[in-house]
Amino acid sequence: MGPKIMDSTQSIVEMRSVRKTFGSTRALQGVDFTVKRGEVHALVGRNGAGKSTLVSTLSGLTPADAGTITIADTTIEANGKNYAASIRDVIAHVQQTPQLFNLLTVAENLFLESPSVRGRFGVVSSRAMLQRTNELLGKWNMEIRPNSLAGELGAGARQLLEIMKALKRGVPVMILDEPTAALSNAERRLLFEQVKTLKAAGVSFVYISHHLDEIFEVADTVTIMRDGRVVKTHEPVDALDVETIADLMMGEKTVRSVRVDYMDNAASVLLEAKGIRIDQFSDEDIDFHVRAGEIVALAGPVGGGKEALAMILAGQQKPARGTISSPGSSSPRIGLVPTDRHASGYVGILGVRENVAIGGLDILSGPLGLIKTAKEQVHVGGLTRQTNVIASSLEQAVSQLSGGNQQKVVFARALCRDPQVLVALSPTRGVDVGAKEQLYALLRDLASKGLGVVVVSDEEDEIEQLANRVVIVLGGQIRDELVGKYTMNDLVLRMEGVI
Ligand SMILES: Nc1ncnc2c1ncn2[C@@H]1O[C@H](COP(=O)(O)OP(=O)(O)OP(=O)(O)O)[C@@H](O)[C@H]1O
Ligand SMILES: [Mg+2]
Repeated sequence: MGPKIMDSTQSIVEMRSVRKTFGSTRALQGVDFTVKRGEVHALVGRNGAGKSTLVSTLSGLTPADAGTITIADTTIEANGKNYAASIRDVIAHVQQTPQLFNLLTVAENLFLESPSVRGRFGVVSSRAMLQRTNELLGKWNMEIRPNSLAGELGAGARQLLEIMKALKRGVPVMILDEPTAALSNAERRLLFEQVKTLKAAGVSFVYISHHLDEIFEVADTVTIMRDGRVVKTHEPVDALDVETIADLMMGEKTVRSVRVDYMDNAASVLLEAKGIRIDQFSDEDIDFHVRAGEIVALAGPVGGGKEALAMILAGQQKPARGTISSPGSSSPRIGLVPTDRHASGYVGILGVRENVAIGGLDILSGPLGLIKTAKEQVHVGGLTRQTNVIASSLEQAVSQLSGGNQQKVVFARALCRDPQVLVALSPTRGVDVGAKEQLYALLRDLASKGLGVVVVSDEEDEIEQLANRVVIVLGGQIRDELVGKYTMNDLVLRMEGVI
């Protein structure tokens, strides 16, 4: 526990009886929520519980239908339009969906709106902007160039930039909505250090995450939401444990499923990689295959090559050398769940139906290239049921869905062409404990039906629950393999590089 702040009992945020509906969805059903000065307050709940909606009404991004909000010395009727401007100086909100401009540079994204880089006549000084950016990047230990385009950075660096941009504003209340979803372990540590430093200076955080272990690492207090209501509020984190939080989130006991093995060494090979070199620096060949019925995990440190190998297997990245083939047919049908769903997983303004159908335009169209509407409706309907997508209709825009349901849409899209092999990167990122189990059941079901499944994951629990074979990828090479009845201990030691 950190040192106590003098004013720590004083509230900085008070939300009273906040209501919000979207059409027939009652996203917030009269929520009370309090944040004290200098605390990290975790907000947890299942996909669709109303977390993002609650913090969006708090920051004024999405005004509520009713209720009052007090932040610092300002009290607002929450149904008022555009109160965001009146609280700009006291609250910053890092949204769940990235908001950076991909065609602007790092420095422009960070400072273009900031008055501190403008000269006497209001003109932006690019020298001042570069200097401030370098200072900030140095403070965060980030090795990226200030004049790279944001769109060229990896998902983790982009997410950190977003957070840096908000934190540097120096406001007393910060909202972080799933800030670590795209971060590596090292990046996550950088973020936690900054959060702790700011907290010690009296800044309050509302922290949303599906990683309950993070809650225990950074949060002081926890509020749990379910179906638009608060079910537990302002509970000290020390009085809770992971099981209790999960049960309160779900409203029922959660069972953790165990891995099932459909592997058969005589089953046909669906995908074969021979003599693969990931890039020109690789100096050892990778040989790898996927058989029908197996779930293989690619594990290892970020940047060690597991993501690149998966993208090569999925035909999305060209290896420096080597071939990918499918012994049975000329080109294997592969479904891909990409790692960064906001960038390449879905098109937000389109509806669920269109997003899923993009995955199989060829099989859903007739001879003239026109989509057969009836066939599409039935096919997409089946896939969204299989993946448990919860939406008001197949026409609802995907940007309006909760994060977990967006990920299920990405799964439905990947399955649209009836793939032989499914390659899924970070398959349950941003997904609640219940939906996670649904996706695990889906992957096992696919394997039992003879698909080959390749999963890339950083989560040891996830790998242990799913994978019948674990391939450790390190330094662009396959370093080790676990098959069949391995234990959690075997896995952890190899993933941490001890063995
Ligand atoms: N703009 C919108 N239009 C229509 N419905 C919406 C909109 N935003 C949210 N909803 C609905 O409101 C409910 C609450 O969604 P919200 O995004 O707040 O959930 P969440 O707790 O943040 O979930 P997740 O953990 O998956 O991000 C969901 O049923 C969602 O579909
Ligand atoms: Mg959300």
